[in-house]
Amino acid sequence: MEPKLVLAVCLLISAAVSVADYVRPQPRRTLQFPWDSKPSSYPQQVHISLAGDNHMRVTWITNDKSSPSIVEYGTSPGRYTSTTEGESTHYKYLFYSSGMIHHTVIGPLEHATVYFYRCGGQGPEFQLKTPPAQFPITFAVAGDLGQTGWTKSTLDHIDRCKYDVHLLPGDLSYADYMQHRWDTFGELVQPLASARPWMVTEGNHEKETIPFIMDGFESYNARWKMPFEESGSSSNLYYSFEVAGTHIIMLGSYADYDEDSDQYRWLKDDLSKVDRERTPWLIVLVHVPWYNSNEAHQGEGDGMMAAMESLLYAASVDIVLAGHVHAYERTKRVNNGKLDPCGAVHITIGDGGNKEGLAHRYKSPQPNWSVFREASFGHGELKIVNSTHAFWSWHRNDDDEPVKSDQVWVTSLVNSGCLAEKRHELRNILMAP
Ligand SMILES: *[C@@H]1O[C@H](CO)[C@@H](O)[C@H](O)[C@H]1NC(C)=O
Ligand SMILES: *[C@@H]1O[C@H](CO)[C@@H](O)[C@H](O)[C@H]1NC(C)=O
Ligand SMILES: [Fe+2]
Repeated sequence: MEPKLVLAVCLLISAAVSVADYVRPQPRRTLQFPWDSKPSSYPQQVHISLAGDNHMRVTWITNDKSSPSIVEYGTSPGRYTSTTEGESTHYKYLFYSSGMIHHTVIGPLEHATVYFYRCGGQGPEFQLKTPPAQFPITFAVAGDLGQTGWTKSTLDHIDRCKYDVHLLPGDLSYADYMQHRWDTFGELVQPLASARPWMVTEGNHEKETIPFIMDGFESYNARWKMPFEESGSSSNLYYSFEVAGTHIIMLGSYADYDEDSDQYRWLKDDLSKVDRERTPWLIVLVHVPWYNSNEAHQGEGDGMMAAMESLLYAASVDIVLAGHVHAYERTKRVNNGKLDPCGAVHITIGDGGNKEGLAHRYKSPQPNWSVFREASFGHGELKIVNSTHAFWSWHRNDDDEPVKSDQVWVTSLVNSGCLAEKRHELRNILMAP
């Protein structure tokens, strides 16, 4: 062959290889956690969550039932200038008895400040960083985590990114009734979740119902207490919080959502308090996606969407983040199944790396609201730059390296005219009995 021809053929082959379908990795096995005996009063599974203005809830578990629920903290290592005592709880699940689960709210804390803290008066020192008071703020987002080799890879990548708050749209541990798996998950996420607030909502894998004996989310609620009381909700399954100019609503796919439900009433009440001057960005998380062109879980979100989408639309929600489908998908602004410049951008990010593997099959043709869809493990980063601009990126766990695979600037609806246009509609819905 002529050298030129050889070169051309080589180029052709390499081009064909690079455009060929990305080879999807197999699911990875559930991690093994060696038995590790610690003193029974040693704090384990430490994680933190935002708990109202300038406050943080510190959660940890001790095997010792009489260990105190105190957190000592301060802004220099080893020098604790404040001490707060909280509450504790535990639960039994058939033959399993949980350790003591401590919840202690500390504050008021300064914004964007590193604090050093210690739980229960002993054990190692942890450090956390509080979120900023103003934009910019960065959220890490990954749902359906589980505890496999891929989960570890996703967590490693999130750890490398500079972020302020982790948002988790449901399906945490995949304990699935095996209570000790909640404990191993708590240990797995501790390095990240003790350093930055983790804000979570429930997925189907949190639900551990035993007919006639146990109903619902007992383990999840005991271990992952979120600021529902602080946001006027009567259930840990739905709540809201505000951080640096964003109002974030965590909806519950597994709590009643129709018009006469508590969740719906609470949502109306919560939306009536949103002030877009103070929080120009309005973001919603929910486990089951409403816009999903994957074959997996197709149509499962339809009931909730029919009940609640018009309310979110009237309130000009900017972004809806969901999990459940083990893949990534991003839509254009959409409402009522159609492209709509005043609708929300929907992002499915249930690709944290759980043991069930990826959801590969997509509906064809791709609906016109779907911009990007791919079945790979990964995580998202939402950097809100200012009141009008946010940069969203999705990072695929490509051969264990985070590869930025999708990115887009999102502009908020705050200056779009949508808010003014829908003011009456929103008032009518909010005023309805
Ligand atoms: C998008 O698809 C929907 C449903 O198939 C159709 O009704 C609509 O006209 C399409 N919109 C655009 C802008 O192509
Ligand atoms: C917000 O950030 C975007 C992107 O960096 C920039 O183009 C825009 O001018 C900023 N707006 C304001 C009001 O600062
Ligand atoms: Fe799920």
